[in-house]
Amino acid sequence: MLPSEIKLPDYRELAPSVTARFEKIRQRPVILSIRALKKSFGANGSTHVVFDHLSINIHRREFISAVGPSGCGKSTLARIVAGLDEASGGEVLLDGNAVTGPGPDRGMVFQGYTLFPWLTVKHNVMFGLRMSGKAPSTADTEARQWLDMVGLAKFENSYPHELSGGMKQRVAIARALANNPRILIMDEPFGALDAQTRAQMQAYLLQIWKKVDVTILFITHDLDEAAYLSDRILVMGTNPGGVREFIENPVPRPRSAEQFISPEFLALKKRLEHHIHPPVETEDVEKLPMIKLTEAGDEVE
Ligand SMILES: Nc1ncnc2c1ncn2[C@@H]1O[C@H](COP(=O)(O)OP(=O)(O)OP(=O)(O)O)[C@@H](O)[C@H]1O
Ligand SMILES: [Mg+2]
Repeated sequence: MLPSEIKLPDYRELAPSVTARFEKIRQRPVILSIRALKKSFGANGSTHVVFDHLSINIHRREFISAVGPSGCGKSTLARIVAGLDEASGGEVLLDGNAVTGPGPDRGMVFQGYTLFPWLTVKHNVMFGLRMSGKAPSTADTEARQWLDMVGLAKFENSYPHELSGGMKQRVAIARALANNPRILIMDEPFGALDAQTRAQMQAYLLQIWKKVDVTILFITHDLDEAAYLSDRILVMGTNPGGVREFIENPVPRPRSAEQFISPEFLALKKRLEHHIHPPVETEDVEKLPMIKLTEAGDEVE
């Protein structure tokens, strides 16, 4: 079946209140503008273009998720926005200023635990504050406030190895937010957590985002996570790389786990699935060599 023949429910018609919400978001100023962004690796001849002509605008305090198959360039996009990687073409503007390198206006949280193991939780959060020239007493007070915000005030004197994975990521979020960034870039921050901790962290993140004036660019390959957290979902693809669709999430806020079976949620999931796992013609499927590795019988299908 051709993709154009597949009937998908019009997810936008399911929740009329959502249209009004997006009208309001569109009236907010654009904080991050990505224009005709291109990234390629390799020298001439063997150049691999990850994406090209990637253009999006993100409004202040939006929660944006980026999803797409492995290798489509989600982390590459995050690193360019963070100023850790250079684009091959196009530009990234934050508050109208071209991004040319890392800066305190952007906070990063990665999947791997990146806390300094030799510093206590509080000193990890204080680190950036001290680097930006804040007095020790001010940095101390602010670090405690941020730890309170992520519910870890009691652990200020603990070391990272004494914390669970979820707690470490909460410290990483506190550390990133302490520098008062305009945008928080999160690359699969909950990817290494078990399902239950991950769900808790998603709920925490929404609570934190409600209280803090920050815009979030959240990379994930978990479609449920993207649907639960985001205002809009940037769907990226490969061959050719780039934006497939920038979807307005029809699931009303405030979000809750009960919404996972709501018509809006299911329609959105179906739409995302259509991009990520498109229906394939059976003859297109690469046939794997059939090598029999067991003599244990044929009862396994
Ligand atoms: N330093 C590099 N040198 C060469 N190629 C690279 C480099 N970094 C990334 N790539 C290539 O760019 C493409 C995009 O990589 P990227 O890590 O951004 O993908 P991703 O969408 O984050 O994937 P995943 O879901 O697996 O994390 C891949 O094909 C990768 O091999
Ligand atoms: Mg990645």
